[in-house]
Amino acid sequence: MLIAGNWKMNAASMEEFGKMLARAPEAAAKGVDLLVCPPFVLLHRLAEQAQGSVLEIGAQDSHYEDEGAFTGNVSPRMLADSGATAVILGHSERRSDHRESDELVAKKALAAQRAGLRTIVCVGESEEERDAGEAEAVVTRQLIGSLPDTLDPAGLIVAYEPVWAIGTGRTASTDDIGSMHGLIRSGLARRLSSRAVPILYGGSVKPANASQILSVDNVGGALVGGASLKADDFLAIALAAPDGRR
Ligand code: PGA
Repeated sequence: MLIAGNWKMNAASMEEFGKMLARAPEAAAKGVDLLVCPPFVLLHRLAEQAQGSVLEIGAQDSHYEDEGAFTGNVSPRMLADSGATAVILGHSERRSDHRESDELVAKKALAAQRAGLRTIVCVGESEEERDAGEAEAVVTRQLIGSLPDTLDPAGLIVAYEPVWAIGTGRTASTDDIGSMHGLIRSGLARRLSSRAVPILYGGSVKPANASQILSVDNVGGALVGGASLKADDFLAIALAAPDGRR
């Protein structure tokens, strides 16, 4: 299982990060990998501190080129040089606030893989889309559009994050998570001939709901926003993973 923390534009204190590092072996002993994705400017510092630890450091976005005249952007190769081993792409906040399309996410995913980064591609429907009965169609379209069929399934991770569950305290029901993850699982098998891509759930995952969510079929971990800023909450989520699930 993978529990990935998305700090967004927040910085947890170094004390909290130190606690995460200190307790990462507890999670590892349960077969749970921890990944922390801080804002760009903290990557290098956290990666240095995490050296030799089982906890990995990732970024929240990257460009599709290795270098060039792209003001304000950071390339996947630069992220790797900073010590990141993973990157989140196509998060709904990027899709809505920065108008990122499936096509752009697909280009970024290929570039991230070229740089050797594990690539977490996010998909998920809005509340209006779910209410209109379009959730499955939207997620299928995002999957097909955001994952080029030349992508290497090794190193790919998909995160299902219903937009209405992000930062709202509302989570999808375990039935809805199960059916969406099942749909994504079969979509990935068709598109990339792989049944081994981890599928994370994201959207208001907290210590109180983690064990229920992480026990659902085809849930390979969680992408955690708010609760990843506090070491106790982040670790409690990791330790809620059912034993023996990878
Ligand atoms: P949340 O965010 O856990 O605060 O809902 C999840 C995410 O946006 O990845």
